[in-house]
Amino acid sequence: MIHEIVLEGNAFINGSFQHCCIGIDDGKISAIKKILTGDKRYRFSKQILVPPGVDVHVHFRDPGMRHKETFQTGTTAAACGGISCVFDMPNTLPQTTTVSTLKEKITYASQHSLVDFGVHAGITNENIQHITELALVANGFKMYLGSTTNALLLSIANLPSVFQQLEKTRTPVLCHAEDRDCLKRHFFKEKNLKDHHSSRPPLCETKAIQEVLKNVANYDVSLHLCHVSSKESVELLKNRSPKVTCGVTPHHSLLDIEHLQLNDAMYKVNPPIRPKEHRDVLFEALCTGSVDILESDHAPHLLEEKRRDFSEAPAGLPGVETMMPLFFSLAVKEKLTFPRFFEVLCEKPAKLMGIPKGVLKVGYDGDVAVFDIRNVTKISADRLHSKAEWTPFEGWPAIFPLSVFIRGEQVVEDGECVGKPGFGRHVTKRVDND
Ligand code: NCD
Ligand code: ZN
Repeated sequence: MIHEIVLEGNAFINGSFQHCCIGIDDGKISAIKKILTGDKRYRFSKQILVPPGVDVHVHFRDPGMRHKETFQTGTTAAACGGISCVFDMPNTLPQTTTVSTLKEKITYASQHSLVDFGVHAGITNENIQHITELALVANGFKMYLGSTTNALLLSIANLPSVFQQLEKTRTPVLCHAEDRDCLKRHFFKEKNLKDHHSSRPPLCETKAIQEVLKNVANYDVSLHLCHVSSKESVELLKNRSPKVTCGVTPHHSLLDIEHLQLNDAMYKVNPPIRPKEHRDVLFEALCTGSVDILESDHAPHLLEEKRRDFSEAPAGLPGVETMMPLFFSLAVKEKLTFPRFFEVLCEKPAKLMGIPKGVLKVGYDGDVAVFDIRNVTKISADRLHSKAEWTPFEGWPAIFPLSVFIRGEQVVEDGECVGKPGFGRHVTKRVDND
């Protein structure tokens, strides 16, 4: 058989690197063998072939805040950072809390996205009764238990009815776990990053996690706790049930307020970046498997907004383009193993969202990223593609992908974006993804 496309090289298959050919037909991986023939052949003798990343947590600001990011700029950044699929959060304008706003976002994103995408529906106190209808359109749900940028709030008292509804949908729910009352009790006018950590303390996170875990216990619901930020939360989640996953971000696992300029609102984010002891535990948890998923929580704001007085500046950091390159360079330096790297960036996020991506395997999407482990560069904001115009990781070593293929189509070539807006497709859930 002659395949449409064949990529040959040292590929990460079944948990280890091996020299092989990957055949792609109709956008799917159709064969993985020592030798394959193809109409189009790419031979990578010095590079490695790996599954691209899946980011379950981005805020592309589109619609409503296109001055901060658009589907086009956000997905260009994703592609250049080796991410083949993103899931957009509901705190856009309008917020995606109804079937019609979700459908509008999907239609628009289908015309502008360069990578595949899914959308999260926000759960609020007002739309709980519509969860079943929303699940026919949304890839996942997002619930905020505490206030944050453009947040949609959900009361803890409503958790039982939310989980009862969700159980019927077999759709995952992602949770921003900071307890609203706890945040209110600790609130004061913040002047710096240390204040931000104190006014949104780990206690508010663990309190929210405890409430959610207690409530979800009786229901068969796939629950993901986003961006866990403290050592207490990692401890609390150690014996979680298999239906509960948790994620960390690059900023919480690589940065700490002991090494940042304290009055720098650029690094203001929810939940906050904390002292080093938390960062160390989070990074360790990522390496050992106590944490399942690495998610960017890409949340760009305008530079002029981030440069405001600390208490006025909005919370949120960009990160979709730098996540995989940063951790790829850490994997090359053996700070975390390659199998763990692929698990947290590719396999587990894809599994959470029920999509056939995240591994190089026959029947899965023909998504392949090509990296050269010697291609170490320094991250520099002026080479990134987000509208954010800055990065929390300026100067950090990173390895960006040289090529990225999505469903057999090349979207990055020689490190440059060659993808077209509108190529990205809305992904649909495949619940039997194992
Ligand atoms: C997010 C944003 O800006 O949209 N900000 C943040 O600090 N993470 C909102 C959020 O999800 O908290
Ligand atoms: Zn977020």
